Amino acid sequence: MEMTDLRPARDERAVRAWLDAHVRDHLRAWTAAVGDPWEDARIAEHVASHDLVEREWRDVVWAAAHAPRGHVRVARARGRAVGVLWAEERLDRFLCRPVAALCWVFVAPAWRGRGVAGRLVDGYDAWAATRPVVAREVYVTATNEPAVRLYRSRGLAVSDHRMFAPGAAALAAARDLTEEASA
Ligand SMILES: CC(C)(COP(=O)(O)OP(=O)(O)OC[C@H]1O[C@@H](n2cnc3c(N)ncnc32)[C@H](O)[C@@H]1OP(=O)(O)O)[C@@H](O)C(=O)NCCC(=O)NCCS
Repeated sequence: MEMTDLRPARDERAVRAWLDAHVRDHLRAWTAAVGDPWEDARIAEHVASHDLVEREWRDVVWAAAHAPRGHVRVARARGRAVGVLWAEERLDRFLCRPVAALCWVFVAPAWRGRGVAGRLVDGYDAWAATRPVVAREVYVTATNEPAVRLYRSRGLAVSDHRMFAPGAAALAAARDLTEEASA
């Protein structure tokens, strides 16, 4: 296993597929959390119509091209990408000081549980140690146990809870569904 820079032309296909899976998982968890769970077909339509994978991919490539402010590393086995981590140095809105934001880490399902993410996060820690940041931080869905365990094992602790309640549009959508079902 080797840790390398992103090679956009070579890695695009794998990383885009992982971004697609990640965005869909996020939407599935998030829409369920606000009480209006979307089905897979609706999620797919939403991801495509808003070009969400393209936007994420562009941001990953941007970060890779802006080292050392950006940090993107790809774990490879026999030259093939098996995992990726994307991080950026960002100014905290209130601290007005830079923090090392871990934006995304993903390991190909067949490679999970073998320490790939651990090594990628160790690389992120090493990068963050060279930057003038006051904190390392990551946003993670509370139900994503493997990710929460991974970050805890590297010394990150929960600070904020992001809390949701359904908004008017979600309540209306749920009402429409109930009416449809009982019609
Ligand atoms: C979260 C995620 C990145 C973890 O990747 P991973 O490569 O499986 O993580 P690791 O292998 O480093 O660690 C996972 C487990 O394997 C164990 N492990 C580490 N090295 C090991 C090794 N050499 N042999 C066996 N197990 C090992 C770890 O101790 C850990 O165990 P634990 O979960 O009981 O603490 C992966 O599940 C994933 O890609 N999920 C989808 C994307 C996602 O949710 N990303 C995070 C949100 S941004």
